[in-house]
Formats: sequence, structure tokens, C-alpha cells
Amino acid sequence: MAEPLIEVADLHAYYAESHVLQGVNLRIEAGEAVGLLGRNGMGKTTLIRATLRLMRATTGRVTIRGRDCSGERPDRVARLGIGYVPEGRGVFPNLSVRENLLMAARPGLRGQLDWTLDRVLQTFPRLSERLDHGGNQLSGGEQQMLAIGRALMTNPDLIVLDEATEGLAPKIVREIWNIVAGIRATGIASLVVDRNYRAVLAHTDRCVVIERGRVALEGKSRELAADEAQLQSYLGV
Ligand SMILES: Nc1ncnc2c1ncn2[C@@H]1O[C@H](COP(=O)(O)OP(=O)(O)O)[C@@H](O)[C@H]1O
Ligand SMILES: [Mg+2]
Repeated sequence: MAEPLIEVADLHAYYAESHVLQGVNLRIEAGEAVGLLGRNGMGKTTLIRATLRLMRATTGRVTIRGRDCSGERPDRVARLGIGYVPEGRGVFPNLSVRENLLMAARPGLRGQLDWTLDRVLQTFPRLSERLDHGGNQLSGGEQQMLAIGRALMTNPDLIVLDEATEGLAPKIVREIWNIVAGIRATGIASLVVDRNYRAVLAHTDRCVVIERGRVALEGKSRELAADEAQLQSYLGV
């Protein structure tokens, strides 16, 4: 079997005295769409940040494409084919849409150049109308699209979406999910966090539920969707 893209083993993470991740295991295979569910404050964002080495106060092992990244610098990890769309988007406000996209551009790890400026603009027609606008002149939905577009410009093998639909109007939310489905169809793996667990289930192969810093439940999305009462007991909805 091919190597997993990401393998996290017994990951612990701390904010000062607070022990936020308490021994998490997580595996993402090439091309796999994985959902990360859990109530607010349970450690989803921390798990992403610890995996991408964006926080230092961790123990455990993070392996990316077979390479031990436990002590790796975050900029190195980012170059291992992972496009990260953080909570809160992280677009550069003083750069134009075009600049935001072009500065992210690079070939993927296998040299693939599937995602170009043209293709991103075809995927996000709204952005093509705003090419010369500053990041700070965009609506929330446009900023989110720009953040996803930036991640795609790196020609990733895995895209990580943390609350990509948060605070957006229903019509834009639908557009974002359509884009997520389109990305999945191209074979790019994904790790998706979203409050709307039904949408996450519908757009992933497998889901992991985090509760107080541990994996409380995991399974195939289709099977989890068949027992919503169980899922709701973890998500408190
Ligand atoms: N920068 C931080 N400093 C201190 N505590 C934090 C910080 N970020 C998150 N936390 C705490 O860590 C826990 C997990 O947070 P987080 O990973 O953001 O949860 P989620 O993404 O599941 O909502 C929460 O209790 C939160 O208050
Ligand atoms: Mg979060």
C-alpha cells in the first residue's frame, strides 16, 4: 500500500499549562477526504496547527509522506504538498487578488502544475472580477475563495480547510462546498473542519470526532451519517 500522506501518532499539545491534545492518532491517505468534527474548543484547530508544526509545545510523532516531521520547521512542512486555509483566512490585505494568488504559485511535489492563475480564476469567477482589488476590499466570501485559491496555487496533494464557511451567507456557503467537491474530484486529499457536520459527512470519506483533545469516534462518513443520534451526542447539537 502507498505511504499515508500524513500520520500523526500520540500527539500531545499544550498552551502553557493547558494540555489541549491528549494523545491523538490521525492518518490521511493519498486522495482521501477526511472530516474533523467536534464541538467548539475541543482541539480541532490545535490538531491542525500541531500537525503542520505551527506550534512547538507538542510531543508525539508527525510523519508526512514517510518523513519524520516532528521537529521540522513549519515552512518546510508547508512545502511537503500541503495547502492550508486557516481559520480566519489569512489573505494579505495590502496585496491585490492577483498578487495574493501569484505569490503562492509553485509546482507541486511531483512537479505538477495543474493549478495555474487561469484555472483558479475559472474555479472562482468572482475573483476574476476582483483581480486588482486589495485583499481588504473583498467580501468575506471572496476572501475565503482567495484563501482557497492561494492554497490551490501551491499545487498541493492535501488541502486543509479550517471553518472555511464560517460567517458566510448561505449562497456563498453552497458555492464553497461545490468547490470543495470539485477539488475532491481531482484527487487532492482534504482535511475539512466545519460546524455543519452534515456537509462534512457529505464531502468526506471518513470522519474523526475530537472530544477534549482525544479522538472520541471515527468511521466512514457514510456509516456515521446513518447514526446521527450517536454523532449528535458527541457534537452536542
Ligand atoms: N492561543 C491559545 N492560547 C491558549 N489557549 C488556546 C489557544 N488557542 C486555543 N486555545 C484553547 O485550546 C482549546 C482547543 O482550541 P481549538 O483547537 O481552537 O479548538 P477548536 O478548533 O476545536 O474549536 C480550547 O480550550 C481553547 O480555548
Ligand atoms: Mg477551530
